[in-house]
Amino acid sequence: MLSCLHPLYLPLFLSALPRLWAENSSPSQSAFFPDAVCFRISQVISAASAVYHPGEELYEKGLHHYASSSTQRSRCVVEAGTVKDVGAILVILGETRTPFAVKGGGHTTNPGFSSTPYVHISMYRFSEIKYDDVSKTAEIGAGLIWDDVYAALEPFGVNVLGSRVTGIGVAGFILGGGYSWKTNQYGLAVDNVVAYDLVQPNGNTITVTNSSDPELFFGLKGGMNNFGVVTKFTMRTHPQTQVWGGSIYNMESVLPDIEAATVAFQESVTDPKAAVIMTYNYVPSAQQIITTQMLFYDAPEPPAGIFDAFLAIPSVLFDVKTRSFLSLIHATPSNSTMGARAVYQGFPIISLTPCISAILVNESKFWGKALADKTEVSLSYDIEMFVPSIYSHNPDKTAFPPSRNLFFQPFNMAYTWNSSKFDADFHETAIISSEHIVKAAIAEGQTQLARAPNYPNYAIAGTPLQDMYGDNLPVLRRLKARIDPLDVMGLAGGWKF
Ligand SMILES: Cc1cc2nc3c(=O)[nH]c(=O)nc-3n(C[C@H](O)[C@H](O)[C@H](O)COP(=O)(O)OP(=O)(O)OC[C@H]3O[C@@H](n4cnc5c(N)ncnc54)[C@H](O)[C@@H]3O)c2cc1C
Ligand SMILES: *[C@@H]1O[C@H](CO)[C@@H](O)[C@H](O)[C@H]1NC(C)=O
Ligand SMILES: *[C@@H]1O[C@H](CO)[C@@H](O)[C@H](O)[C@H]1NC(C)=O
Ligand SMILES: *[C@@H]1O[C@H](CO)[C@@H](O)[C@H](O)[C@H]1NC(C)=O
Ligand SMILES: *[C@@H]1O[C@H](CO)[C@@H](O)[C@H](O)[C@H]1NC(C)=O
Repeated sequence: MLSCLHPLYLPLFLSALPRLWAENSSPSQSAFFPDAVCFRISQVISAASAVYHPGEELYEKGLHHYASSSTQRSRCVVEAGTVKDVGAILVILGETRTPFAVKGGGHTTNPGFSSTPYVHISMYRFSEIKYDDVSKTAEIGAGLIWDDVYAALEPFGVNVLGSRVTGIGVAGFILGGGYSWKTNQYGLAVDNVVAYDLVQPNGNTITVTNSSDPELFFGLKGGMNNFGVVTKFTMRTHPQTQVWGGSIYNMESVLPDIEAATVAFQESVTDPKAAVIMTYNYVPSAQQIITTQMLFYDAPEPPAGIFDAFLAIPSVLFDVKTRSFLSLIHATPSNSTMGARAVYQGFPIISLTPCISAILVNESKFWGKALADKTEVSLSYDIEMFVPSIYSHNPDKTAFPPSRNLFFQPFNMAYTWNSSKFDADFHETAIISSEHIVKAAIAEGQTQLARAPNYPNYAIAGTPLQDMYGDNLPVLRRLKARIDPLDVMGLAGGWKF
């Protein structure tokens, strides 16, 4: 019997043993037999939910992730359809100590964060969106992707703080913080959530607001899946007109001009409606860096001057224009690496200086060449520029970022490759490279970086919690003990308090 267990789960199995003996009289109800647990779930859920097994189409859909390295084959996929069913499922998983996963949009690049060999809960059926014109808020189902949210809100001329590229899940994005194209104007996604519908680990359903439970409200703002399963987010909306922006690709021959334009943007642009993500992307098959610029201005036309330097550089692909917000999101190139294996690693940077830019170029080329025979895809370094006031939009404390007085920008690296043989190479390199960059920035004078957090939605698996949650960690641990005393959510992967 033990031989069918992954060694990783042996301690969990052992901790379930006393229960197994105690409930000996009804063995199918107890302990950790994943197939029996799948069956038991199928017996308690309503017709609004369903359980799928290998071979069924919705089983595959339920398991799917953006990065193939984030997918595991589970014993069953449970598509939960009501909050009551989610509660019943959590109770069974907790009683039997069965490892499980909760998946929103499946965009985490950390293996095991929204996948499991055992019971996989997929949230797709929580797909309702309701806009309330009086309170100017939107109720957003936790199973949606941002594309659908933007499409639904467009007719009302409003929008919320969601992802900057196509396909990202609402749930993981908001639960980790959420950097949006409108963050310069309104803060992070968590700063714009007014209520969470939460199924607690004991199966009870509650709506969490600043007045119902201020501590849990704080914890949910960055605390990922530690406190239960969120089924709905209620977010403040903001006016949305047509926007200006899109993507541009340039070859390495114009890299000095690109670098100069990017550093100048960082140093001079204070207009909160303007934003740029610049990516230095080493592509082994092209044997060079190909840059991607995503430009954004939150109005149909940008004022003269802001983007002129970028627009003057000869490009190989140019798709920048006045368009809907949704069209801008659809124009982002992120789906081109969908299906490859991936690691992301965030690294906070206070300011993009010429020196940091040169280091990012060198890191991308150096490691791109060193790992060229291990990837057909790419090694990217993302410069995500924001104005220094982004953390000032919320007077209340949130789990992330741990301090609102320290400005940092969540830069990110993304390595993509195809063969699982090389997983460890890319994982290790991402850590070495990010440490090298942050050390160089500190040496250059960005000394505050020593206490700047890594963004939980970018941080690579294995990052110490202290590095993301800082001084908030003791409070978050106490809160976790209050909300989930039996550590049910500890059976699901992710950052664990
Ligand atoms: C191409 C790409 C672009 C990105 N762009 C941005 C960006 O612009 N800004 C930004 O801030 N981040 C961005 N990210 C990071 C993104 O925020 C994270 O990957 C995020 O976790 C994705 O959410 P998801 O629901 O798709 O993920 P999932 O993989 O489904 O889930 C991530 C985590 O959240 C938990 N979770 C999911 N649903 C629930 C739920 N209902 N209740 C409780 N826990 C739940 C999971 O258990 C898991 O631990 C990007 C990532 C990628 C791959
Ligand atoms: C949230 O509640 C705290 C008290 O717990 C209060 O000080 C704060 O102003 C409230 N925030 C909002 C936005 O209402
Ligand atoms: C990108 O992929 C997602 C699936 O993860 C899909 O929903 C989305 O429509 C795709 N976007 C584009 C622009 O093709
Ligand atoms: C690598 O993976 C990407 C993304 O899935 C795919 O487009 C590409 O064809 C793959 N390349 C090889 C050589 O397998
Ligand atoms: C480029 O980066 C590598 C890896 O960090 C480093 O060893 C090398 O010294 C760097 N080269 C330059 C010119 O800085």
